Amino acid sequence: MLTFCPKQLLVILFSFGAVSGVYAADATSVPQKKPSSIIRYDTIHHPVKSNSGMVVSQRIIASEVGASVLAQGGNAVDAAVAVSYALAVLLPRAGNIGGGGFMLVYLKDQDKTIAIDYRETAPKLAHKDLYLLADGSVDRKSYRSGLRSVAVPGTVAGMDYALSKYGTMSLKAVMQPAIDLAKNGFVMDYDTASAIATRETMLKKDAAARATFFHKDGSLYKASELFVQDDLAQTLGAIAEHGADAFYKGAVADQIVAKMVKGGGLISHADLANYTVAERNPIVGSYRGQKIVSMPPPSSGGVHVVQMLNILENFNLQKMGAGSAESLHLVAESMRYAYADRSKHLGDPDFYKVPVDWLTSKDYAKQIANKIDLKRATPSSEVLPGKKSKYESVDTTHFSVVDKSGNAVSNTYTLNFSFGSGAVVDGAGFLLNNEMTDFNAKAGTADAFGLIGGAANSILANKRPLSAMTPTMVFDNGELSIVTGSPGGSRIINAVLQQLINVIDHNMNIADATHAPRIHHQWQPDRLEVEASISPDTKAILRAMGHTIKEAGTMGSLQSILLEGGQLNGASDPRRPGAGAIGAQ
Ligand code: DON
Repeated sequence: MLTFCPKQLLVILFSFGAVSGVYAADATSVPQKKPSSIIRYDTIHHPVKSNSGMVVSQRIIASEVGASVLAQGGNAVDAAVAVSYALAVLLPRAGNIGGGGFMLVYLKDQDKTIAIDYRETAPKLAHKDLYLLADGSVDRKSYRSGLRSVAVPGTVAGMDYALSKYGTMSLKAVMQPAIDLAKNGFVMDYDTASAIATRETMLKKDAAARATFFHKDGSLYKASELFVQDDLAQTLGAIAEHGADAFYKGAVADQIVAKMVKGGGLISHADLANYTVAERNPIVGSYRGQKIVSMPPPSSGGVHVVQMLNILENFNLQKMGAGSAESLHLVAESMRYAYADRSKHLGDPDFYKVPVDWLTSKDYAKQIANKIDLKRATPSSEVLPGKKSKYESVDTTHFSVVDKSGNAVSNTYTLNFSFGSGAVVDGAGFLLNNEMTDFNAKAGTADAFGLIGGAANSILANKRPLSAMTPTMVFDNGELSIVTGSPGGSRIINAVLQQLINVIDHNMNIADATHAPRIHHQWQPDRLEVEASISPDTKAILRAMGHTIKEAGTMGSLQSILLEGGQLNGASDPRRPGAGAIGAQ
């Protein structure tokens, strides 16, 4: 059985500051290309290398947990479930048991990729006008936070499903590290301490959240203090003992419903008992001869990554050069058209017929490519969703796993905003999501990420809100080559897109691809967001082409693995502190 004592964690955490860039690189990187009398390095950033399994997540201790599972002989799914529960403890603002997400599983011996949809679901009491006030406007407060914004969580059912169907170890064994981390505590890191401080007002509105994330006197945890989550340890223990039923039908369900009844939430015992995981056919596309496999609706990620790659396949990005204004312009225009389509055509496929084949067809992409002016930005007001014939919260999190047999997991899950609804289930120690805010509360209006949507993504009982989460895998000549994904709200799809282009078109190693500056366009508002490291010269050229440039913060946090020459190359994203790639020994 895997156990982590606080002392071990202390040691790991005190090397933490150095981890993201330096620890990973110095420990394992090797000079590239031809030997010479002087050792030379051809790239600035170096992936972590291993031959026997790799875990990349937004918390290095969670990656260690996963790598230990692999080292014990667990497969990628065993490790993924262990990482998921570890992140629920170590990254409370996004890792979760009160949220939901999407997992891609690649089974090497069957050469098969499975898409597991454990997205949250609207409770039965939800309806299309749920958040509309008497004057027809949207009640932003209850739509975005508090108990009325909570959708029925899917994570525990999703992990149970994945493990029992595709894993090899017991739930108890893979959950033990998370239980230990919650019970014995972990050393509070700067990132979590400041994330809690940022959301202090919201979290203190909920008595259970206050008791969970603050000292008894209400003061903040400081970095390097031990952070213990006793209630969460108990909840995880109950799940480990009794499986998902503990959460959906047993004691935890009672605690969730009690919270709802007390605070005016919508979720009932029946909503919890009726929650189901959906196994769906992944979206499959191709890009320059490589196979792209990604998440289908109710995520929009796979459809639009494939759509944008199809558009870009019509241009020689490699020749234009990575980061050139010419290539960024084309990438931005592809984003504009794809997000326009998203606003109209994407929603939960169990409630709305999403025209997947058309949106992901090479023909439709060619029509869009023909409309793109190589020198001028097309104003979004002139781009409408096709016809057939503001803000990035710091959370959601992605992890990627490959085991020594070549099985893989690409998993993105979330509470939606940082710390979700801000409501912790009394006595159970976990946060509930605010995923209802991914629905469009009123047709034609923007969701909380500024994404416009209509009937396809309206609120209905038991419907799943549209997501941008994009866990993705790439296969080159039939062999798994990339496992990747990211948080980032509306920017997720574009972050994944750029990762694929950087590797496939620009030949970057996975660490360089991860570090490369990113851009984002989502049709409306009509502006091209750029990271600070895009050069002023490039921005000037893009402005001259007609783009409205907005300097934004960092975009996404990609946790990726590249398989090359029989070797696993892991790269965590330095944009959010504390991430790490760990090779299994
Ligand atoms: O499913 C979605 O697309 C959103 N709920 C994701 C939210 C997110 O990524 C927030 N932070 N990074």
